[in-house]
Amino acid sequence: MRFETLAIHAGERPDVAFGAVSVPIYQTSTFVFEDVGKTRGYDYSRTANPTRRVLEDTIAQLEGGKAGFAFATGMAAEATVMHLLKAGDHVICGDDVYGGTYRLFQNVMQDFGLEFTFLRMDNRQAIEEAIRPNSRMLWLETPSNPLLNITDIEMAVDIAEKHNILTVIDNTFATPYSLSPVEYGVDLIVHSTTKYLNGHCDVVGGAVVTTTDELTERVQFLLNAMGTCASPFDCWLVLRGIETLPVRMKQHEENAIAVADYLEGHPAVEKVFYPGLKSHPGHEIARRQMKGFGGMVSFETKGGIEMTKSFLRRIKLFSLAESLGGVASLAEHPATMSHASMPREHREKVGITDQLVRLSVGLENVDDLIEDLGQALGAG
Ligand SMILES: Cc1ncc(COP(=O)(O)O)c(C=O)c1O
Repeated sequence: MRFETLAIHAGERPDVAFGAVSVPIYQTSTFVFEDVGKTRGYDYSRTANPTRRVLEDTIAQLEGGKAGFAFATGMAAEATVMHLLKAGDHVICGDDVYGGTYRLFQNVMQDFGLEFTFLRMDNRQAIEEAIRPNSRMLWLETPSNPLLNITDIEMAVDIAEKHNILTVIDNTFATPYSLSPVEYGVDLIVHSTTKYLNGHCDVVGGAVVTTTDELTERVQFLLNAMGTCASPFDCWLVLRGIETLPVRMKQHEENAIAVADYLEGHPAVEKVFYPGLKSHPGHEIARRQMKGFGGMVSFETKGGIEMTKSFLRRIKLFSLAESLGGVASLAEHPATMSHASMPREHREKVGITDQLVRLSVGLENVDDLIEDLGQALGAG
């Protein structure tokens, strides 16, 4: 089955019990045993649940991995993956990852004895120099949040394999529709399903896809031991969203290209970050490794923070809100919102300025979106 078909038919569908076409929501904590020591496949919903299983199988198949796991949030998925490591292990991570990822690593996992190096993942020599004898994990996010930096996955995996380091990619921005990390040999894929996979801003969720039996067994163990799993209803919402992922991603990209082109030509805009633009330093790599450039566009306004604030107050169709990947367009200010948990010095070092705005370009008519951006930017 091809991607669009898998998005609708992967996993146990129709339901085996009564043939329901829409995956039933098995809203139950526990399951009756057939006999002492004999289940009908499920015993307790933290360990496994039939609704969750369909979502997990669907995401695993879309990513081309071994197995999938659905979590309560993207952060729950990430926290669980970090428990594959132990005190004394070293992690190399992109320097402009999602602010919550940075916070989890710096302010939580570091206290458990993990070591972290954050660096721009665009330079083979710099990554190689960061490797220590205790390096165990390379954490990638491409396109990155919020600067849309592109990492050459082939290069990163090549380095990691030479040093026997586990590679993890946060594929939230690209989605499996636009990027297939498994094809490049990435070991683990992480998602905030809150974003494009759900697509409607009505759930928070996360996912992990594994590529080996060993990782599958370990992630299943950790999910159950830590209790970080997603609820059946939340799984159902993500499943319903995934059914339209391919058509949504095509339109998100079409709209984002038009928005990025418009912003690049606007006199009140200092700089536009979108991998689909020829001016983007990662454009050629993105063209090579991605099927589409996605729906996220970041830009800096000219004229200092007051101009940025004025833009954010004046937008109407774009809502000023955290999150991304839904059908409705959102705008946010990384310095005070998604990346506020990153210390100012780190933000400044990596280029997340106070003038940076991140747009999640939705599925509205793109002319309406552009008119909204135009009125909010003013004459420049
Ligand atoms: C790239 C990326 N990864 C992970 C997360 C965390 O996901 P969640 O908010 O579902 O916990 C986010 C949230 O914004 C994100 O943008």
